[in-house]
Amino acid sequence: MDTTWDIEGIRSQYPALKDGTVYLDGAGGTQVPECVIEAIGDAYRSGLSNVHGPFASSRRSLQLIDGAREAVADLTGGPAGGVVLGPNMTALTYRMAGALAKTWLPGDEIVLSELDHDSNVRPWAQAAASAGVLVRWARVDPLTTDLPASQYGELITTRTRLVAVAAASNLIGTMTDVAAISAAAHAVGALVYVDAVAAAPHFRLDMGSLGADFITVSAYKWCGPHAGAVVASVGLLETLHPDKLDPSPNEVPERFELGTAGLANMAGITAAVNHLADLVGGTGDRRQRLDRSFAVLRARENTMVRGAISRLSAIPGVRMVGAPTLRTGTICFTVDSLSPDQVAVRLGERGICVWSGHAYAWELTRALGIRASGGAIRVSLSPYTAASDLEELVTAMTSIVCEPVPH
Ligand SMILES: Cc1ncc(COP(=O)(O)O)c(C=O)c1O
Repeated sequence: MDTTWDIEGIRSQYPALKDGTVYLDGAGGTQVPECVIEAIGDAYRSGLSNVHGPFASSRRSLQLIDGAREAVADLTGGPAGGVVLGPNMTALTYRMAGALAKTWLPGDEIVLSELDHDSNVRPWAQAAASAGVLVRWARVDPLTTDLPASQYGELITTRTRLVAVAAASNLIGTMTDVAAISAAAHAVGALVYVDAVAAAPHFRLDMGSLGADFITVSAYKWCGPHAGAVVASVGLLETLHPDKLDPSPNEVPERFELGTAGLANMAGITAAVNHLADLVGGTGDRRQRLDRSFAVLRARENTMVRGAISRLSAIPGVRMVGAPTLRTGTICFTVDSLSPDQVAVRLGERGICVWSGHAYAWELTRALGIRASGGAIRVSLSPYTAASDLEELVTAMTSIVCEPVPH
């Protein structure tokens, strides 16, 4: 297997990196490579029209959508015919919550997790409240931030209809044991809705081995355009009937797609998945190449994250948040003398982009007792992150903690 990570070659494909900005906010959103920009530009340049029209530009639009479905299917290990495309994960999850809640009865139950981004919590909690459905909560271990899968045995009952869980935390990088959670859910016939938005940029997804009935991703987290997808089997989607316009297609997956798609972005989705597949050299079909890229990416990020944690922890006053058993390329910390926002502002002044605050990990920051004090600072890696980016971060953090404390 070719394991060469040509970091300079990869970085040269990203126009946004050319001004020297250090982007360590991939969990918020990544930069895009030239091939994605070109694909989107080419789509517009070649002429696009509404789908299902009797002319070439309309057929091109349909091809772009079909291409994006196939690309997301390769990324997630799901069926292309079950890829629902939309503006972002939040909108799609509200859409799915509305459709699934129609199948719930008062007294049914769902299980949500404290670890999750609020977009995999609130749509379900609100749908449950309207349907008279009980919400049970999976808790994180406050020290490690692990989400013990063992608790699901007690949380899941014969009334459980849905378990919604993240494959990885967007704030801390904590990875969850989705396969074990899914097995517990499936034992009572409950469906599993997996938020893989924070996982997809860091490790290889496979719906089958995760046991996910639904899996969601957002392309702008993996070097693509601002668009999202939720994937499920065609058979499962056929059983659901979301609110929709009378004349809009009733076929699956179009039944779930509201209004006109961001057509040019569809070309960008495909280009982004192709880019991920080609991050390391080698042959094979796209899924095999994705396997290879993610195997190398994961090993690389593990090494970089370990190094960054150890260097940052050595800076006086810096405290890591959580110590998960398995994590993505995301880390999270606080600083004794400065608020997370103050740190992010000071790093921003030095051209280093990191996120600060709760990052919509709303229940998690409450559970960890850090929400009221401004959350935490999040640093997250992307395929284009260089070792020198982390060096710059450590150097900047060292000088920031030595500066006089503002009043
Ligand atoms: C884990 C996770 N889930 C869901 C979302 C929401 O995604 P979107 O912006 O596509 O609605 C985010 C966005 O940051 C996220 O990190």
